[in-house]
Amino acid sequence: VHPSARALEVSQDRLVEKTILQELGVGTAPFRAVDDRPSLDAAIAVLGLPAVLKTRRGGYDGKGQAVLQAPGDVDAAWSELGGVPLILERFVPFESELSIVAVRALDGTIACWPVVENTHELGILRLTRAPAPGVDAALQASAEACIRPLLDFLDYVGVCCLELFDVDGELLANEMAPRVHNSGHWTIEGAHTSQFENHLRAVLGWPLGSTDARGASAMVNCIGGLPDRDAVLAVPGAHLHDYGKNPRRGRKVGHVTVNAADAASLEPALERVLELVRASADG
Ligand SMILES: Nc1ncnc2c1ncn2[C@@H]1O[C@H](COP(=O)(O)OP(=O)(O)OP(=O)(O)O)[C@@H](O)[C@H]1O
Ligand SMILES: [Mg+2]
Repeated sequence: VHPSARALEVSQDRLVEKTILQELGVGTAPFRAVDDRPSLDAAIAVLGLPAVLKTRRGGYDGKGQAVLQAPGDVDAAWSELGGVPLILERFVPFESELSIVAVRALDGTIACWPVVENTHELGILRLTRAPAPGVDAALQASAEACIRPLLDFLDYVGVCCLELFDVDGELLANEMAPRVHNSGHWTIEGAHTSQFENHLRAVLGWPLGSTDARGASAMVNCIGGLPDRDAVLAVPGAHLHDYGKNPRRGRKVGHVTVNAADAASLEPALERVLELVRASADG
């Protein structure tokens, strides 16, 4: 089975995941396991505040976590999350959130898409810019140096994403997703080969396709409902993806990708799409 059960095992548990990343020499936020109230107090004494308390398993879209700003926040966070295995991480004062999506073939060949920048709203991914504004060859190389050892270690086959914090040009790994990822959806129209196609190529043992970008792209998630179809399709370079899900508050029901020759010509189209998406649904 590709990717391996080991990849799932590692990515399902934030403590195992961060421990392995550190063993591989990939930087992460400093962290401690928290299994009871005394170990939470001990972890706070070591890591300091602010910090983020997270369930080790089962979290997504920022669910199952609480930011501890001050000692007064600890009791409430503990009563909300306590009782299951937890992890405490030092709060990372990042400049931006980035991610890198990569694919590893059966023969071990790895190809990476350009590093992208992610903007979240209320814990949910809202916007991905591809490539990330300001990314240069050095930053791309550092991001690749974070994901390559992980994929090799797991003998990974298929597409994988690694979420990163950019702290003044230094990258810290936050978490991996052992699958095609929302921050890679732009590749459908924005790259020579999409993450979905390369995932299939990898698993089938076929040669990988080029991960180069076609110009600049942005992906806007539609959360809680879809924007006006005709208005979106009238925007130059815009493509609407409707997942066919029942709209519900806070639920991703589709996305819009905007593609243009370069970042400057992308901007007006992206502004218009953001306006249309915000006018719909959750706003
Ligand atoms: N140690 C940290 N320091 C600062 N911010 C953090 C930290 N950990 C998480 N965050 C913030 O919370 C968001 C969600 O955290 P994380 O990715 O670990 O959880 P998740 O629930 O799996 O999220 P998602 O499903 O959106 O990827 C991050 O994108 C980041 O904005
Ligand atoms: Mg995440």
